Amino acid sequence: MSIKKISKEQPSDFKFNNKNLEEAQKIIKKYPEGKQQSAVMPLLYLAQKQNDNWIPLVAIKYIAKLLTMPYIRVYEVATFYTMYNLSPVGKYFFQICTTTPCMIRGAYDIVNTCKEKITDKEHELSNDKTCSWMEVECLGACINAPMMQINDDYYEDLDKEKTEKIISQIQKGEKPKPGSYRGRTNSEPENNRKTLMDIKNA
Ligand code: FES
Repeated sequence: MSIKKISKEQPSDFKFNNKNLEEAQKIIKKYPEGKQQSAVMPLLYLAQKQNDNWIPLVAIKYIAKLLTMPYIRVYEVATFYTMYNLSPVGKYFFQICTTTPCMIRGAYDIVNTCKEKITDKEHELSNDKTCSWMEVECLGACINAPMMQINDDYYEDLDKEKTEKIISQIQKGEKPKPGSYRGRTNSEPENNRKTLMDIKNA
């Protein structure tokens, strides 16, 4: 379970750059007249991408104004979903799933490895300011539990040793390979298919 942390240090200004403003307008146009407020989630995500992967409060106000919605309603969305960061995160941002399937398969070995190798507190930057981590709810890859997400990539079928290796590679500036760390293709069984073998074209 994760608690949303709102940064004490906040910038005084935010607006979309030209490219993102154009993108925001395209997103808003996807919704019927009078329903433009439905664009709130992709616009928050766009603001996060523009601002080093976190959303300052001024960006929430900016989006509220852009969509003519009350600030509190945009704030409620931003504080509800773990995909929105409301304080700075590392250039390498580790999200560890600790929901039940991952938990019973050893998610806390991954959490403890992050504590040892990144920083012992969730939401804090590592000493070299490059990495941070947080616990999140199910990321939809339960069949490859336990798993973690680093920036946009999933790392699955992990244990302590594999997590240590991934973190070390990142700290050395290398790019570890995403996907299953038990050699599976996506979520297929290990060592090829095992079911429906007698059904043609199954
Ligand atoms: S429970 Fe961890 S990905 Fe679903």
